[in-house]
Amino acid sequence: MESEQEARTILDRLNTAVLTCDDQIRVLTMNPAGESMFGISAKQAYHRPLSALVLVESGALLRPVDKARSMQQPVTAHDVSLTLSSDRSITVDCTATPLATTQGEHVLIELFQVDGFLDIAKNRYREDQYDASRDVLRGLAHEIKNPLGGLRGAAQLLERELSDRGNKEYTRIIIHEADRLRNLVDRMMSSFNPVSHKSVNVHEVLAHIRKLILAEIQEGLTIIQDYDPSLPELRGDRDQLVQALLNITRNSVEAMGDRGEITFRTRIERSVYSGNRWHRCVLKVEIEDRGPGIPAHMQERVFYPMVSGRADGSGLGLTIAQDIISKHGGTIQLHSEPGHTRFVLLLPFQSKDPQYAG
Ligand SMILES: Nc1ncnc2c1ncn2[C@@H]1O[C@H](COP(=O)(O)OP(=O)(O)OP(=O)(O)O)[C@@H](O)[C@H]1O
Ligand SMILES: [Mg+2]
Repeated sequence: MESEQEARTILDRLNTAVLTCDDQIRVLTMNPAGESMFGISAKQAYHRPLSALVLVESGALLRPVDKARSMQQPVTAHDVSLTLSSDRSITVDCTATPLATTQGEHVLIELFQVDGFLDIAKNRYREDQYDASRDVLRGLAHEIKNPLGGLRGAAQLLERELSDRGNKEYTRIIIHEADRLRNLVDRMMSSFNPVSHKSVNVHEVLAHIRKLILAEIQEGLTIIQDYDPSLPELRGDRDQLVQALLNITRNSVEAMGDRGEITFRTRIERSVYSGNRWHRCVLKVEIEDRGPGIPAHMQERVFYPMVSGRADGSGLGLTIAQDIISKHGGTIQLHSEPGHTRFVLLLPFQSKDPQYAG
């Protein structure tokens, strides 16, 4: 009995989707990874034909199952493409194993998602690069900050010694530019603060950002709120999350020339790899605009420091946002084409509630 319980626990924790089907290839059991993959509970899937779990079954899923049954041995099909819904396709390796039971010829099906792993490797590489560029930025900010204080102090002293108005104009320029540089350095260093871990209500954060933006721009801008009210609270640093989301929203406002429509959307996303681990479910926040989009050649680079498409931009907003989200164990994805840009933030709940933890 104990070993049966242990086997069930192992099955529940596997990241591979494991299903069993009866002799008519109808689902009998499915582990949680299977539920996440197909977006259906084991209870709902019970007795449904396996082919009904996908939107289009072109034989890709049933072929290895039929083959395994006719050959009476395990069969693996690689790179099987499954269309799960109109906007979601995945690639899996599928292993079917015939199971002779007292109830008949059942079949065990294991589905291992392979395309996610390619993305993960790519994302990890990219995140390592972002980390390296942020380290350079951190070093640079420290190096600039100290001499800058001296420079400003010296210019102030000099200004006091000068009687000529024309000469004073020069020291004023030094002080003004030193202050501008100081603000830049402060921004560079702002996201290096440690994060606190308190309860944060993401809808309160978004409402706050909406209020801030709409206070700056009185007319012509609409911010639509499309929320899942059942979402639990996050654990994180409210002020830093406000900063990250505000930077992304400001970019949308600037790209659309202070007018148009922005959508804030929140949902739950299941089975996500983020912050070097799998999460059963995470919070998904989307910020979407109908602006000109980010040119394809810039999309890979916008999260690096000092990359800006605006004449007066410092190119730090997205670097800071990325840093904050990654300190929360999350990731940012970008989808952009002319007329439509969407930033997707995936944030683990870091909750103690087992339904949302891990
Ligand atoms: N929603 C968007 N639509 C179009 N372009 C965008 C959008 N978001 C970002 N970008 C582009 O990405 C660039 C980098 O953005 P980022 O916020 O890092 O820097 P910035 O806005 O130029 O300067 P800063 O935020 O430091 O004042 C922007 O200059 C802009 O060209
Ligand atoms: Mg910006």
